[in-house]
Amino acid sequence: MQADRQVAHPHEPATALSGETESITMRRKSPLIARFDRMAPAMENLPDFYDWVVGVFSHYHLAKDASIADVGCGPGALLERLAGLGYGRLLGTDFSQASLKLAAPRAPGARLLLHDIEEAPLPETQDVVLMTTVMDFLASPHPALANVRATLRPGGLFFVTIRNLWAYFPWYHLRGLAGSLERLPRARHWLLQLTTPLALRRGDWPYEAMYTPRDARSMLAKAGFRIVGVHGAQVLPMLWVPGVPWMRALQRVLEGSMGLVAPPWLKYRLMFVCTAP
Ligand SMILES: C[S@@+](CC[C@H](N)C(=O)[O-])C[C@H]1O[C@@H](n2cnc3c(N)ncnc32)[C@H](O)[C@@H]1O
Repeated sequence: MQADRQVAHPHEPATALSGETESITMRRKSPLIARFDRMAPAMENLPDFYDWVVGVFSHYHLAKDASIADVGCGPGALLERLAGLGYGRLLGTDFSQASLKLAAPRAPGARLLLHDIEEAPLPETQDVVLMTTVMDFLASPHPALANVRATLRPGGLFFVTIRNLWAYFPWYHLRGLAGSLERLPRARHWLLQLTTPLALRRGDWPYEAMYTPRDARSMLAKAGFRIVGVHGAQVLPMLWVPGVPWMRALQRVLEGSMGLVAPPWLKYRLMFVCTAP
């Protein structure tokens, strides 16, 4: 049942919300925002993730005075790193006030804005927009991407990450065998448990998605972006069990060996770097 949610998003229409839908959406959203507020301290990833993001970012040699917006900045881990690298015109936006409160002391030079990217573009055009691990939690990714597109100055760069469903090949696809285990409910349960990506298994968020690279490419194209770079990190995510400390060491070993030769589209974290005319 949860796996169905990952295919629902890519096929949503890219139309703007009508006034009526918008107010319904806003009313529906307050419990969601309250949940992001409550979970704000847990919205931070492991440091390796941000190391990878700023490593990719640094390849693009952006001017230190570029205007940079971190959309869905959460508790500010990325803003803090970008400030540390000397970027001076940072804007962090999030629809969760609690996240912005956590971000404020970490990047004191950055401006922060309470803003819902599914509802409107940012009030100022930006040279660069980053959106890391936000697509995976959006109820309506299409309007969000259209709003980022409208925020980006022509020729600007958009860095966006997704969690890649293909990285679970072939495990995820073994789920199809569950149908033949109807008479063995326990075996069926464990097959589904072991072949379903953790993100889709947890079920503690109303919207939690994983995308295939193809889904992401088509959503980005629909929003008017041109992809100029694809980068990946984290091989064999099925081996990752949170809370087991040596798993992280194992992941690092895998990254430094298999990760160096595996193509990006087989890795769990995928970053698309896009521009727009
Ligand atoms: C998993 S956290 C990622 C935080 C940060 N980007 C990072 O990589 O550390 C997702 C963030 O997206 C924010 N978010 C989700 N939907 C949003 C929306 N429609 N508009 C703005 N922020 C949103 C949440 O409040 C949360 O802080």
